Amino acid sequence: MGTSTVPAGTVTIPSGTALGRFTDSDTPVMHGSMPYAPNLVAEVNDSTSPCLLVDDHVHTPAAPPVMTDTGCLNVGVLGLTLPNGRQLLSDVSFTARHGSLTAIIGPSGAGKSTLAKLVGGAITPTTGHVSFDGCDVHAEYASLRHRIGLVPQDDVVHHQLTVEAALRYAAELRLPDATKDERSAAVRRVLDELDLTGHAHTRVDKLSGGQRKRASVAMELLTGGYLLILDEPTTGLDPALDRQVMTMLRRLADAGRIVLVVTHSLTHLDTCDQVVFLTPGGKIAYCGPPSDIGSVMGTTDWADLFTRVGADPDAANRAFRTRAGTHVATAPPARPRVRSSPGVVPRQLLQQVSTVARRQIRLVVADRGYFAFLALLPFILAALTLVVPGNAGLGMANPRGDDPNEPAKIITLLNISAVFMGTALTIRDLVGERTIFRREHAAGLSASGYLCAKMVVYCLTAAAQTAVLTAIVVIGKGAPTRGAAAVGNPIVELYLTLALTAAIAALTGLAMSATAKSQDQILPMLVVATMLSIVFSGGLIPVSGRILLDQVSWMIPARWGFAASAATADLRAIAPLMPQQEALWSHHLDQWFVNMTVLIAFGAFLAGYIRWRIRLNAASR
Ligand SMILES: Nc1ncnc2c1ncn2[C@@H]1O[C@H](COP(=O)(O)OP(=O)(O)O)[C@@H](O)[C@H]1O
Ligand SMILES: [Mg+2]
Repeated sequence: MGTSTVPAGTVTIPSGTALGRFTDSDTPVMHGSMPYAPNLVAEVNDSTSPCLLVDDHVHTPAAPPVMTDTGCLNVGVLGLTLPNGRQLLSDVSFTARHGSLTAIIGPSGAGKSTLAKLVGGAITPTTGHVSFDGCDVHAEYASLRHRIGLVPQDDVVHHQLTVEAALRYAAELRLPDATKDERSAAVRRVLDELDLTGHAHTRVDKLSGGQRKRASVAMELLTGGYLLILDEPTTGLDPALDRQVMTMLRRLADAGRIVLVVTHSLTHLDTCDQVVFLTPGGKIAYCGPPSDIGSVMGTTDWADLFTRVGADPDAANRAFRTRAGTHVATAPPARPRVRSSPGVVPRQLLQQVSTVARRQIRLVVADRGYFAFLALLPFILAALTLVVPGNAGLGMANPRGDDPNEPAKIITLLNISAVFMGTALTIRDLVGERTIFRREHAAGLSASGYLCAKMVVYCLTAAAQTAVLTAIVVIGKGAPTRGAAAVGNPIVELYLTLALTAAIAALTGLAMSATAKSQDQILPMLVVATMLSIVFSGGLIPVSGRILLDQVSWMIPARWGFAASAATADLRAIAPLMPQQEALWSHHLDQWFVNMTVLIAFGAFLAGYIRWRIRLNAASR
């Protein structure tokens, strides 16, 4: 078994040998070339004797790996036209080899972020192609996604987690086949590579802007990040941090990766190997080494260059094409591609549910203020329910007593409290996490796994809150007196109706959160949802038998939740002032099950809607 020392760069695996699984669970490459970073650990096998690629040593039985210097990212006549006919990018072509750092610059709105997303596989071009190490990024995204790191402009790290915890959860999601030790090693490696070891236990929101950006990059390097694309990583950073980030990118490129960086900062372009200058309208005005810009474009004054290119983008693009000697008339349309689905196997799905659920619990607890609010809420709502006058509780109300409608008021308040607790629990969730999920979904997290984890955590939390609420009100006002309609114990039965109401409200909250365009829309949604539940539940205002009101109320889960509790308490018998003809409230096993089943059906419908919505949001730009 031979040993050869390989500097950072690209290793070509001779045909006849096979590259085994990386410790970071990359897919096997049978032959061809692969990027090689000095701290990468991978197995290299041929058919007879296995061998190992460790640090900068390749142990190989026959031919040692050959170092090549070929271009490995190939962007060919890329174009993107919106459905309204507007052309965002046209004829963008360039190549980048392993070990290189490419800057994408241009005026605001030129299409730089769009180009970054196209190259990273996040959106599909109308024309042209992107190939990475010989594979079509868009057609073979599912197999390539572990090798592509895309760092969007917004931070995609949960701010409430520590750097190490965030990386650990990300490693669980992105390296599903790795063992625990391998994941820990990957986390240590990226912490070390990005100089974050000293901040491993710092919460992300306590990091400086530059450190936070490094944490986002660290996420993408967990799986290797052989093609690393960053969108404006230095926006909002001071000049010193700006330089620090560019130096870091240089180092990451030197380790054998292909790094593309969209940047508005022109101070450190000399650290890059190549500059791609986009004009407004998404065409190339210059593509080449930064040192040649002056001689080619006639000036190195960026203000002049931007003004000139902005004034006549087409002329700038024509000049570029003449220089490059290319006369691309029209790009061939991109082949229709069936995007390979992420393909998550059931075992991985369960693992994803477990990871996201554990992370969700940690996030809820880490947000101290909100956690305190959630913990206190059932006590506050229970205390408010106890304000109802009278001492009949959920027993027969005295028509001439303090409050002849006492049982109805208690049931109404209990149900509204359950609805409110459930909705308040979840309504902020998905809208706040959208950019993070978009990136995680692209990196392999399934929408079903993500949603399942959220549903489990939030439904259990809602059930726990409801338990406190029910316990306090039952202690203060007494248990239902008419026996159970369905499950034996009236207190348990009442609790089940309220817990299910709260869980469905939690799903309603998630559905609204998935629909909201921004955090600002959350409050109006919460107000309207709560008001609809109050009005249409049937406890406060009679809705049964009233044209339109009755039919609309069937669409409101609170109506069925209230009906289930009313059936348990036998409201028609104990509250003489309530409508006696209300069939949904009848104290019978069948009716109770019908009410609960309708609630569950609402839950199934909402889950389907949320899943559709989060997939849609993840696919949009
Ligand atoms: N989802 C979208 N739908 C329609 N137009 C968009 C969308 N996203 C971006 N654009 C438009 O495309 C152009 C390029 O956007 P972008 O790539 O973000 O530019 P840059 O990053 O160079 O500032 C802008 O004019 C922007 O308004
Ligand atoms: Mg941008």
